[in-house]
Amino acid sequence: MEEKIEVHGPTAVNGRLPVFGAKNSVLKLMAAALLAPGRSTITNVPEIHDVTVMAELLRRLGCDVTYRAAEHEVAIDVPEVLGHQADYDLVRAMRASISVLGPLMARCHRAEVALPGGDAIGTRGLDMHRAGLEAMGAQLGIERGFLRAEVVGGLTGATYRLGYPSVGATENLMTAATTASGVTVLENVAREPEIVDIGEMLRAMGAQIEGLGSTTLTITGVPRLHPVTHRTVPDRIVAGTWAFAAGVTGGRVEIEGAQPEHMGVVLDKLRASGCEIDTSGGRFVVQGPPRPRAINVSTLPYPGFPTDLQPFVVALNAVAEGSGIVTENVFEARWGFTAELERLGARVHLDGHHARVDGVPARELSGAPVEAMDIRAGAALVIAGMAAEGITEVSGIGHIDRGYEHFVEHLAGAGVRVQRRMAGSQA
Ligand code: UD1
Repeated sequence: MEEKIEVHGPTAVNGRLPVFGAKNSVLKLMAAALLAPGRSTITNVPEIHDVTVMAELLRRLGCDVTYRAAEHEVAIDVPEVLGHQADYDLVRAMRASISVLGPLMARCHRAEVALPGGDAIGTRGLDMHRAGLEAMGAQLGIERGFLRAEVVGGLTGATYRLGYPSVGATENLMTAATTASGVTVLENVAREPEIVDIGEMLRAMGAQIEGLGSTTLTITGVPRLHPVTHRTVPDRIVAGTWAFAAGVTGGRVEIEGAQPEHMGVVLDKLRASGCEIDTSGGRFVVQGPPRPRAINVSTLPYPGFPTDLQPFVVALNAVAEGSGIVTENVFEARWGFTAELERLGARVHLDGHHARVDGVPARELSGAPVEAMDIRAGAALVIAGMAAEGITEVSGIGHIDRGYEHFVEHLAGAGVRVQRRMAGSQA
């Protein structure tokens, strides 16, 4: 029987909501642990399904992994001799499996990673991962559905300019370069806080990396790295999710454990929509307006507005005063959920990578069964359901569990009328 999330709207969020380490950092921190034999420990780990998938992948590569979910900690014992293959079942379950490519090239000088194929938000190419490794001397090809990479005698430092600041390519090339011979210069790299976090872990392991947080990274290869204990950077996307929940429902949230300084443009846009935000004295409080104003947002690489928060902007505009234009510049196919939102009565007009959303008063939205297609779209549908009148039943909630720790429990703890329910069971 399929489990669903049931929201009884209208219902506002009012209370404290926690934020743990970033999904998009912790998975790569776990992969980076492969670079050094011995035990690395990662703390502030969120209790999410994707961490379980990455733990399984590392086990198949020969590591001993202990995930103490309730303690928010993962310990990874990395052997001297590693496997070098990431299988299709895991890569398909979690595309971030590709992040073992860089560490395996550094440690084993070879890697075989199953190709992920397309997913619900776009095709997601790997051309820059490949071209960067080729610049460092590797030979790459595709065989039996695997990307196979090999470099005889190890990688050599090189200068490579990314055609676009890809998060995944920056991470793979940065980790691969840590033990390459000579100096690697990576230009036009991504600058997300999660990349800085991974770079800081690598530096603590003994890597020589300059320029973290800027557009150019200079990495001087060292012979070997050593294991470390590292605390994961807080999840700015989860923090943004809680903030938008307040903005959409006119509620008030006190967000705990986040780093608002990583959320500049996001907070500017929330303020423009009418939210009051207090980040003084270590607090992070967001008070939503009685009815938000529509906002115009273009998604861009950091420090621009994150694509992972785009679905929440559409949800906010759906109940806002006025019309807002949302432009998706990062993932071409990230609009699938708007058809689900229309089932609640939202007015969305798509035109290529733009969406014009004409706001209606929240009482004109009515609850309906809808389907989550990816992590963020799923969470955004729950939040839209909070504003709508009546019951919204969200299916496909396995996506939400991939990236949000105890999503329903936390919202219910903050006063939201929401519950998980087996399809067909009584309240
Ligand atoms: C990561 C995040 C994801 C976030 C995204 C952008 C993880 C696990 N996922 O995804 O949540 O939405 O960053 O902030 O961290 N591209 C190419 N060729 C390449 C690499 C990328 O064409 O070699 C394209 C992709 O198809 C996509 C765009 O570049 O359209 C952005 O991709 P990228 O920044 O690499 O995102 P991910 O690392 O996949």
